[in-house]
Amino acid sequence: MASVDLNLVDEILRTRPPEPRHLLALLQEIQARFRYLPKEAMLAVAGYLDVPLARVFSVAGFYKALSLTPKGERLVTVCQGTACHLRGASGLVGALEKRLGIGLGQTSADGRYGLESVNCLGACALAPVATVDGTVHGHLSPSKALELV
Ligand code: FES
Repeated sequence: MASVDLNLVDEILRTRPPEPRHLLALLQEIQARFRYLPKEAMLAVAGYLDVPLARVFSVAGFYKALSLTPKGERLVTVCQGTACHLRGASGLVGALEKRLGIGLGQTSADGRYGLESVNCLGACALAPVATVDGTVHGHLSPSKALELV
């Protein structure tokens, strides 16, 4: 794994005052910049906010949007809620897993794609649904899903 640019981490930290209430916001910004929370960045956050490292890890582990391992450059999220499940979401997952060579919750070896699932995207009328980098794609078939990656 490449080394972390601590100057960039420092730049992010200085966007907010060193108060513990900014912990989540800072972690979100670091996640957005690095696509994960590098250990060095978590140490820097703990030091900057003067909070225990265990608390930083606790927050990082609680939110699904935060990750301790790098996420793919492009994030594919397949809805597995009831409506999507009934309309073939598992077929989408199977096709995407096979194409990308990864399972749900994993990132491709080249770092280009991450594959995740969600329980409902709030677009049930379009089931089955998936998003790519937050853009919703509905009425998918396995072959249409493969066109997204
Ligand atoms: S169940 Fe898939 S969008 Fe609601």
